[in-house]
Amino acid sequence: MKVLLVAGGWSSEREVSLSGAVQIGKALKSLGHEVVPCDLSDDFPGFVAAARICDFAFLNLHGAPGEDGLPQALLDAAGVPYQGAGPAGSFLALNKAASKQLFISHGLPTPRWDFLPTPPPAGYAPAFPPPWFVKPNSGGSSVYMSLVRDPAELPAALEKIFATGDAALIEEGLCGGMELTCAVLGDEALPPILIRPKAGEFFDYASKYQPEAADEICPAPIPRALTDELGRLSLAAHAALGLTGYSRADFIHTDKHGLMLLEVNTLPGMTPTSLLPRSARAAGLDFPQLIAKLMELGLA
Ligand code: DAL
Ligand code: MG
Repeated sequence: MKVLLVAGGWSSEREVSLSGAVQIGKALKSLGHEVVPCDLSDDFPGFVAAARICDFAFLNLHGAPGEDGLPQALLDAAGVPYQGAGPAGSFLALNKAASKQLFISHGLPTPRWDFLPTPPPAGYAPAFPPPWFVKPNSGGSSVYMSLVRDPAELPAALEKIFATGDAALIEEGLCGGMELTCAVLGDEALPPILIRPKAGEFFDYASKYQPEAADEICPAPIPRALTDELGRLSLAAHAALGLTGYSRADFIHTDKHGLMLLEVNTLPGMTPTSLLPRSARAAGLDFPQLIAKLMELGLA
């Protein structure tokens, strides 16, 4: 098959996207496909014309544009198949505040939050006490994210986000628990991963992408009931957002709160240190087999 491998773009996760695309390109070739590389930032309108002369578009874009449903909508209009979620599910999942509202309406647990589309008035504070995770509402990989323990630091954390043009999400910081992630592939949950950053207070950009910067244990060494609950919640979140093909849900677990859903990623990272490929490996799929499965699901 002739496969358009779409990566890059201009989001804060551009480098993550390009790094994953190197691995995906090799895997596609090893599966016998012809690879046509496409960096979305070179020529955005040209991307549809390039897709039209291919049989499939493999999207490895993170953040916006790419994980927000825009390329997916253009590919749908052009009649070109791709892997993963469609436009509506992608748009909802990338919007953390919208996702959390849907989680609540489906009875899925998520930490308390406040959504700030624009800078708040002076003296603003969320209705719940710190610590707070302050995140770009549509960002990923912990870029521009801060852990705020002192309310005096909140304005600077927010300013960093508003300067990018994104809205801000302030989430109750459930610290001291376990960070866990669980992927859905087709209609099944893959083995979950327990993440233990070796430095820093949370799974930040450096812990995510520097080799050996975090212990990522798969399958997570947790009680069977917790593994089952992770699978159940991941599948429920995938369904609540209307996703197809695959996704990866991120969680925090504390003794007090139990499992709490943070967000769902519709185009999870595919770099050498990324989590989905690790989880697939634990389920018996090597990287090229994972790529083949994602394409099979996208073509179904
Ligand atoms: N946003 C990054 C790529 C991830 O979820 O893996
Ligand atoms: Mg994310």
